[in-house]
Amino acid sequence: MCGIVGIVALSDIIREPIGRIIRRCLERLEYRGYDSAGIAVIEGSKLVVKKGKGKIQELAKKLEFDHTHGIVGIGHTRWATHGKPSDENAHPHVDCTGTIAVVHNGIISNYLELRHELESKGHVFKSETDTEVIAHLVEEYLRQGLPVFEAFKRAVARLEGTYAIAMITTLEPGKIFFARLTSPLVIGVGDGLKLVASDIPAVLEYTNRVIVLRDGEIGYVTPTEIYIEHNGKPVDWKQRVRVITWSLDMASKGGYPHFMLKEIHEQPLALVNTLSGIEISQIKEVCKLIESADRIFITGAGTSYHAGLVAEYLLVELAGVDVHTFIASEYRKFLNLADDGDVLIAISQSGETIDTLMAVRAFKTRGCRIIAISNVVDSTIPRESDIAVYTRAGPEIGVAATKTFTTQIAVLTVISLVLARERGMLRPDEYNFLMSQLQEVPKLVETIIRMHEPKCQVLAKYLKDKTNVYYLGRGLGVPIAMEGALKLKEIAYIHAEAYPAGESKHGPIALVETGYPVVFTVLDDYYVDAIVGNVMEMKARDAFTIALVPRKYVTKFGKLCDFVFEMPNIDYRLSPIPYIVPLQLLAYHTSVLRGLDPDKPRNLAKTVTVE
Ligand code: G6P
Repeated sequence: MCGIVGIVALSDIIREPIGRIIRRCLERLEYRGYDSAGIAVIEGSKLVVKKGKGKIQELAKKLEFDHTHGIVGIGHTRWATHGKPSDENAHPHVDCTGTIAVVHNGIISNYLELRHELESKGHVFKSETDTEVIAHLVEEYLRQGLPVFEAFKRAVARLEGTYAIAMITTLEPGKIFFARLTSPLVIGVGDGLKLVASDIPAVLEYTNRVIVLRDGEIGYVTPTEIYIEHNGKPVDWKQRVRVITWSLDMASKGGYPHFMLKEIHEQPLALVNTLSGIEISQIKEVCKLIESADRIFITGAGTSYHAGLVAEYLLVELAGVDVHTFIASEYRKFLNLADDGDVLIAISQSGETIDTLMAVRAFKTRGCRIIAISNVVDSTIPRESDIAVYTRAGPEIGVAATKTFTTQIAVLTVISLVLARERGMLRPDEYNFLMSQLQEVPKLVETIIRMHEPKCQVLAKYLKDKTNVYYLGRGLGVPIAMEGALKLKEIAYIHAEAYPAGESKHGPIALVETGYPVVFTVLDDYYVDAIVGNVMEMKARDAFTIALVPRKYVTKFGKLCDFVFEMPNIDYRLSPIPYIVPLQLLAYHTSVLRGLDPDKPRNLAKTVTVE
């Protein structure tokens, strides 16, 4: 995830250097990315680009953003996806002639093909990014004699993936060209001044009137004009101008009261970006490494460990490989087993958790090969690994991991499916079916949030005064129960414990009395009867029972339980992602009702860098 911004204004409206305005806009978007930043401004008839690796404030000082003058400019704050954070990979990107500058948020999934095509026509690339192809594509169509907007449209039509783009060129210096597909983009509507930006906070200092662009819309703004097209037809945007009443602080959370809620709601987009950003050639490389290994170890801490438990289940069940998963700080448990024929999969959203890093280093000394799954490009764990596969969830600010958990599972599910296919454990039709169901998961998550958030708010009223909750599941439902319990414990400060449901009779049930909440995660047909038995045992002790069940079992569980969440009827091996979402929302709303701050739970840190 990245943040983009563009501003164009009449010269008598702009009372300060445009570079300073862009810098301030970017600071409000910094939550979307902060590993590098840059601006491009047309000064006189020249395109001036200032960019580099580092935080906006430091770069602005070093490169003198505030001393850049002009009436049109664009800016970018980056969260690296393609290409590590570096001066070259920072946006804006320019074409060969140095007259076109582009900023982009999203992923161009066909960029390698486009890059090869453009290189064969003589274009010279300066970065490793997917974005740079856009500037060269526009240049290519301009070479063919098209006017700028036509060339921009032709270029955008060639792109696959997700994007919010802003482009300026010295050929038409009073305009910002823009396009949007999946990645967010808004237009700020000022008098004698227009802005484009990834999010509303970036424009709020200059105008509170905005148009939220829709998928497939493309156009340009000048200081006094807005032109939008969709499918080649002009769009009547006048009725779509919204007046924003949020405060600037609320706006940086996109109108959500907390980052955690925002990040829960961002999951459909984070999943689309992660799934569309996966390079199957890299996954095949990962599979080759796993295939050649004697043993597979998986490690992680906190939520990342739970993603590891999901992966263990999928790798064993789908691909039939020998997997041992352990909590990172307990790495010595398996160290004696590990040798140079083995592989360790290290999962860490930050890529910096010390326990996971120590496990990686220890296993490396035994000759193990390391595969990292991380959300932060070029962080320590991926850097020290043989292969790094990245999730594309964007920065996560809330301490409790949400969107990084579901995107980790998305990547690990793809690895398991590809490996199962390569090992002949899935027929081509089964593989294709599961892969296409996986692509539907982001939409399902969107529906679950819409359908179940009001229910979570109701249930939170019941939970908020409780002191203990059990989360019980079987099979793949166990790691989801563990993650659900962790969420409630860490942000609502309610003691929550997860168990395999079968274990409940070996101790936990001794605590159950009238009104004791017990949450069941039911994913797999195979376990339905056994879980029905467990629910009955809890009911017999007057527990308050809550179940997440596939649609086909809603009636059955509806008769038994006090509260039922209807979940989609998809293959249970793809269910971990949708199932965790109501449990995240439940923890969030319980925390808020208890008057707590879910973004900053006491005693906890986002990244733990001490043992
Ligand atoms: C901390 C965070 C958790 C996170 C865990 C592992 O405990 O509060 O949300 O799951 O660290 O972090 P990592 O960055 O390695 O995934």
